[in-house]
Amino acid sequence: MKDILTIAIDGPAGAGKSTIAKRLAKEYKIVYVDTGAMYRAVALYMLEHHINLDTENAVVDALNLVHIRIVYKDEIQHIYLNEEDVTQKIRQQSVGEGASKVSAYLPVRKKMVMMQQEMAKETSMVMDGRDIGTHVLTDAKVKIFLSADVIVRAKRRYNELIDKGESADLHAIEEEIRERDYRDMNRDHAPLVQAKDAHLLDTSNMNIDDVVDAIKKIVEMR
Ligand code: DC
Repeated sequence: MKDILTIAIDGPAGAGKSTIAKRLAKEYKIVYVDTGAMYRAVALYMLEHHINLDTENAVVDALNLVHIRIVYKDEIQHIYLNEEDVTQKIRQQSVGEGASKVSAYLPVRKKMVMMQQEMAKETSMVMDGRDIGTHVLTDAKVKIFLSADVIVRAKRRYNELIDKGESADLHAIEEEIRERDYRDMNRDHAPLVQAKDAHLLDTSNMNIDDVVDAIKKIVEMR
């Protein structure tokens, strides 16, 4: 039987999950699944159809009109929403905030988790999100909970935007992250929490290489 490596990475917004997950996927030549992108695609559909994200019934009614497909091109995840490639569009801040709202609704979570578990069947992968170690891949070989101080996470986001030549307001970013943390950690269904068997890594004072090396050590120890 082939040895399947599944790495689950959870943590709050801006902890560095996607950067680290991409690096690990490359190192181990396995797939990277960004589950946040799926919730973002749901939010994008609702925003484009002027559906009030705070009204659960409206979001849930529209949910069966949302068809999400994940495709890999040159090892990069592309996400299709009703056959449109929305990989870039979903990166907007408003979509991230919207994703945090729609992901609180149980029918939305059920639909996404079913897709994620289907993708993970007999495939080595690193999957990141908020509930991967606790709900989606409870049998993952390695579970990591990445965290970092909120100020550090806000600074990282700020620097990313400045590097891209966009304008940014550090204080506003910090506020947005605090709100998102609160919503993601306090919702009723699958809130963001460290799995009992997850390794906690506080990346506040670590660079990307340090974090990748630390996780590789954990993988090798398993
Ligand atoms: O990781 P991200 O910023 O792209 O995620 C956007 C939102 O989606 C996040 O605030 C909460 C939600 N999410 C979730 O509830 N469960 C996941 N597995 C991934 C994301």
